Amino acid sequence: MQPVLFDTDLGVDDALAIAMALNAPELDVIGLTVVSGNVSIEQGTRSALQLLELLGRDDVPVYVGAEKPLFIDRVDAVQVHGSTGLGYAELPEPSMLPVGRAVDHIIREIQKRPGELIVVAIGPLTNLALAERKSPGILNRARRVVAMGGALWCGGNITDTSEYNIYADPHALSELLQALTNLTLIPLDVTEQLTLTEGEIVAACQAHGDRWTRFVQEATQSVLEFEQAQGRAREMHLHDPAVPALLIEPSLFSMRALAIGVETEGASAGSLRVLPEESEEGMSVDCAVDVDSARAMEFLHGRVLGS
Ligand code: BDR
Ligand code: CA
Repeated sequence: MQPVLFDTDLGVDDALAIAMALNAPELDVIGLTVVSGNVSIEQGTRSALQLLELLGRDDVPVYVGAEKPLFIDRVDAVQVHGSTGLGYAELPEPSMLPVGRAVDHIIREIQKRPGELIVVAIGPLTNLALAERKSPGILNRARRVVAMGGALWCGGNITDTSEYNIYADPHALSELLQALTNLTLIPLDVTEQLTLTEGEIVAACQAHGDRWTRFVQEATQSVLEFEQAQGRAREMHLHDPAVPALLIEPSLFSMRALAIGVETEGASAGSLRVLPEESEEGMSVDCAVDVDSARAMEFLHGRVLGS
């Protein structure tokens, strides 16, 4: 089993990704580190604990991370994910508490098993950048760092050109690009090809009728409503579940090493730049550039909506 640590900002698709990874026989989720993003750090931590209790996984420890980005103010996404980050799902008060600080935990867990741990980032990259600041070189001692974020050649989802996770803390990615040689990015270009429809969610709920699929239906409602309010179909993209999908079934994705830069200032802050290979500015990042969406959705459907 591959050990993985999830750094998350607890939105609806984060919850689906985490549940999928916890249920995957291929992965051993050794903990969740929470970062502020979709919701505040307090809310994200509470939702992480509630989610784990819903899944009967109170053995997975939760760690509290950064309450704000490195330099800029926090930009939340409660209009998409709801005020708790879990849409309309209402879960009981958690009985567990977080057990420590995220940055120290990331450093400690990598040190414990050099070259083995995969660090998964499905929120803004603040915690990872702080870990790298505190212990320079630490993240290169992880087996790899796999982040959902950025838009390569497609439009953005928070501004015309920026994807939310990178926009929310562009300086964090900028610092990581200077330091990391083992970074994989799964950008919007790929995750927007992974679409779950309301019909599929309802059908799964009717077929299984269990607590998990009811949770999925309640949680995803707010994303579907947001999409509809934007004039789009009642469908949602499985952004964050793309990361465990890549770890479990890499053949679904086409990968390319690209020299990547990130804008940190001005109107295009958070946008990625794909630079010529010989450029000294961009850092080589293993990027998912395409996905077999039919096969990937079949895979994700079973893993996310299975009871
Ligand atoms: C990313 O932004 C967040 O709101 C989602 O959880 C996902 O991590 C998609 O752009
Ligand atoms: Ca997320």
